[in-house]
Amino acid sequence: MSILLKRFLFWGLISLFIINSIVIYTSGTENDPAKAYITEESKAGKLLFQEYNCISCHQIYGLGGYMGPDLTNVISERGKGELYAKSFIQSGTQRMPNFHLSENDVNALTSYLKYVDKTGFSPVKNFEIKFDGTIMQKANL
Ligand code: HEC
Repeated sequence: MSILLKRFLFWGLISLFIINSIVIYTSGTENDPAKAYITEESKAGKLLFQEYNCISCHQIYGLGGYMGPDLTNVISERGKGELYAKSFIQSGTQRMPNFHLSENDVNALTSYLKYVDKTGFSPVKNFEIKFDGTIMQKANL
């Protein structure tokens, strides 16, 4: 291989590497659809969610315990919603414990669930595989 070709390959690959790094590290991170929902209240809700170990019975993005339903989209699911979620968190049911939470804590947990709702879909029922191999939910539940 001639020295010229070697140099061409070397600098060509280095340039591709740099361009690739720039594209990867500068795109996609600025438009997080859930960003507006990261508030002090939802952060407090996340801590409560961990403190009361809600994940032991519930899933988020399909991961967690299986005694209760997946909570990822409980806020936007047809027939459910914010008030629906609040009533479960506030009073429990025969199968879900009542944690006797204060109104602030109930609001914080609901606010966290609102944030989670904007971050993804679960279970993914109706999806399409895009040209780059990523998966997109087609329509809302
Ligand atoms: C011991 C298990 C258990 C724990 C712990 C638990 N839950 Fe539940 N949860 C359930 C069960 C079971 C249901 C379904 C209740 C029913 O239909 O009677 C439920 C239902 C719900 C619902 C309604 C979901 C839907 O789609 O219908 C919400 C919201 C909820 N739980 C939030 C929470 C939060 C927030 C926590 C933590 C503070 C929590 N749960 C902790 C068992 C649990």
